[in-house]
Amino acid sequence: MALILGIETSCDETAASVTRDGREVLSNVIYTQIALHEVYGGVVPEIASRKHIDKIIYVIDSAIKEAGIDKTDLDAVAVTYNPGLVGALLVGVSVAKAFAYGINRPLVPVNHIQGHIAANYIAHPELEPPFVCLVASGGHSHILHVKDYHEFEILGATTDDAAGEAFDKVARVLGLGYPGGPKVNALAKDGDPCAIAFPRPRHGFDFSFSGLKTAVINYVHNAEQKGGEINRADVAASFQQAVVDVLVENTVGAAQKAGCKTVCLAGGVAANTALRSALEAAARENGMAMYCPPIELCTDNGAMISCAGYLNFAAGMRADLTLNAEPQLRLE
Ligand code: KG4
Ligand code: ZN
Repeated sequence: MALILGIETSCDETAASVTRDGREVLSNVIYTQIALHEVYGGVVPEIASRKHIDKIIYVIDSAIKEAGIDKTDLDAVAVTYNPGLVGALLVGVSVAKAFAYGINRPLVPVNHIQGHIAANYIAHPELEPPFVCLVASGGHSHILHVKDYHEFEILGATTDDAAGEAFDKVARVLGLGYPGGPKVNALAKDGDPCAIAFPRPRHGFDFSFSGLKTAVINYVHNAEQKGGEINRADVAASFQQAVVDVLVENTVGAAQKAGCKTVCLAGGVAANTALRSALEAAARENGMAMYCPPIELCTDNGAMISCAGYLNFAAGMRADLTLNAEPQLRLE
């Protein structure tokens, strides 16, 4: 039995969690900075780092207390070190080093993308690799062949904007505010997804959202210049449908090519209700099983890092006190 503390500070959530054997969540504490960044229409890295410093000790302390354990009961301290905002990551990495040293337990490095994938293991104890996973977040959009817990192959990726980034930018144009994904998702429920034919750019299993985003911006600006009214719900629904179509077709196509009978969703955009139901339907049509984490484990949280940390810990992965934050994605 292993109790792992997971620490996550890669973007705008200060989060910590204790899990048992990587599948049972004993606590999952998240301090979200959304309100702080909302006024700027997006995450301001310097502000995020400073707020992490403010909150991280309190968040870790709460995670340990809520788990009903003593810090000396922990077997290891896991932390996100790659990828993310470097100043934000450094807060988690520095605190994790000090904490692991202080309680004399191993420090375990965790890749944030691996963490998003691991959120599926918490929700679905029966799930095991191999499977194909669409990881779509604010910073990354990848279709990965998860061959084993630590063996990943990139089958497709965005060539420009991440899916979440496109949601956030379209939300800004529609005057919905930050973070855009949940707001576009909510507004789209009142709109017609077939109202406007936005482009669906794909190249093999790669995809691109920059052109789609520009098409939405142009549509809104053209309508404004002509002094006409736009139906914002129709724009939200049609944009969302274009993103969902591309992501679902490519994920199912990549799974077929890889010979995988299981597809998974992960990352903040996996919280999108249209994406979840479309992938579920497409998987069913193609005789595949489909898994996704509950909505609260899709966006950044400490439990997914603790779970991935357990897998790394069990595989013997350790970091020493030279561990550094890495902003660019590295999957190994
Ligand atoms: O994984 P995440 O919490 O942070 C990163 O690692 O980037 O993902 C955040 C992204 C944001 O772009 C947000 O707008 C998007 O996920 N998101 C959604 C939804 N909820 C969050 N996008 C579409 N629909 C949603 N319901
Ligand atoms: Zn994330």
